[in-house]
Amino acid sequence: MKTERNADLLKRAAKVVPNGMYGHQSTAMLPGVTPQFFARAKGTYLWDYDGNRFIDLMSAYGPNLFGYGHAEIDAEYVRQLGEIDGATGPSGVFVELAERFVDQVTHADWAMFCKNGTDATTMALMACRAHRGRRKVLIASGAYHGAAPWCTPLPYGVTDEERAHFIYYQYNDVESLEAALAKAGDDFAGVFATPHKHEIISDQEAPDPAYAKAVRDICDGHDGLMVVDDVRAGFRINRDCSWHHLGVEPDLSSWGKAIANGHPISCLLGSDRAREAAGKIFVTGSFWFAAAAMAASVKTLELIRQSDYLERTIAMGDRLRNGLDQVAASAGLPISQTGPAQMPLIMFNTDKGARDLALTYAFSEGMITNGVHFHPYHNMFINAAMTDQDIDQILEAAETTSKTLPDLSTYQMNPMAKAAFQARLEPAPA
Ligand SMILES: Cc1ncc(COP(=O)(O)O)c(C=O)c1O
Repeated sequence: MKTERNADLLKRAAKVVPNGMYGHQSTAMLPGVTPQFFARAKGTYLWDYDGNRFIDLMSAYGPNLFGYGHAEIDAEYVRQLGEIDGATGPSGVFVELAERFVDQVTHADWAMFCKNGTDATTMALMACRAHRGRRKVLIASGAYHGAAPWCTPLPYGVTDEERAHFIYYQYNDVESLEAALAKAGDDFAGVFATPHKHEIISDQEAPDPAYAKAVRDICDGHDGLMVVDDVRAGFRINRDCSWHHLGVEPDLSSWGKAIANGHPISCLLGSDRAREAAGKIFVTGSFWFAAAAMAASVKTLELIRQSDYLERTIAMGDRLRNGLDQVAASAGLPISQTGPAQMPLIMFNTDKGARDLALTYAFSEGMITNGVHFHPYHNMFINAAMTDQDIDQILEAAETTSKTLPDLSTYQMNPMAKAAFQARLEPAPA
């Protein structure tokens, strides 16, 4: 696999960008062969600058739902760009898109648009606090809600004061949720929940219906607002808010990533119960009202409603999961596949059940070398442009990889990742 041109871009970036890249777009924690820069994306494929083609299991970390460069969605984007995009005020497509979301998502009576998932979760947080003028918000420990000072995972540049009014509970654990509520006392403002437990490295977990219902009951009983953060999983679990099938509807839901198939837009949706609070907070952004991404989102919602994209991504995910189980079984590899099949976290365990990071990294490296963009510790995303043939190619890559794994006792996994993750996985010394 050629890597020279990517290496050259990395070298240039290191001079003009701190660390050469920031956030999860940095490949510093990934297997060394992972390209950081890409020259082209189409359908389910990515091409790097060295001419390598990858079947992309990451789907842009979620936004790619229907395939990169989708003809109908991009045509709407371009059409709108020719009329009006970013201007002194929004275009009528702003209202149309809000109407479409209100039609599509059961709990939604209104919508507010922004750019990134973090904008939407931050607005949700502000609305919780504006609802009754209270401060304490309950958040599942380890859950990712974005990269603003209140939620970014690393401590640098963040003051304790910015985190002072969060109380952390364990996902799916009603007792810990109730304990967090008791700590909040009469300063309780609301609860954040992700659709399922989808943190990096740890096994993904489906929501226990009793937990989902308890979140709702607590917010009803104590006059707080309930938030489902659907930024990552929105429209990948169902065509409504992700807890709809559990019969649990939030007051607020945050969305981003897939809602315009990669065009830049996110939103906060809410019920009438949260309308007044959302109307009080001052939020805006120079680019939040740009019309082209909204037109792309209108078309994406139409395809979500009318196409079988969801059933396809689930079927492709199942095919991949079953195939990988077979490949792993015949190679004797202890694979761990968790999460919905269309949003899989694929790692490997030791025979004692702990994460085997070296095997996971060696496998990922093999997959990338064999033409599959594969992530060693983040959940991946199946997109609707994937075909049976693509999945079969991924399985062939997995078979080749499993037969050509390096000797793990001498394998040099990424040392930065090893240090970071071993500290997370091993219990702190007593
Ligand atoms: C659940 C969840 N919330 C919020 C965010 C933040 O979204 P963004 O990166 O668009 O700001 C993410 C991003 O991965 C996410 O997965």
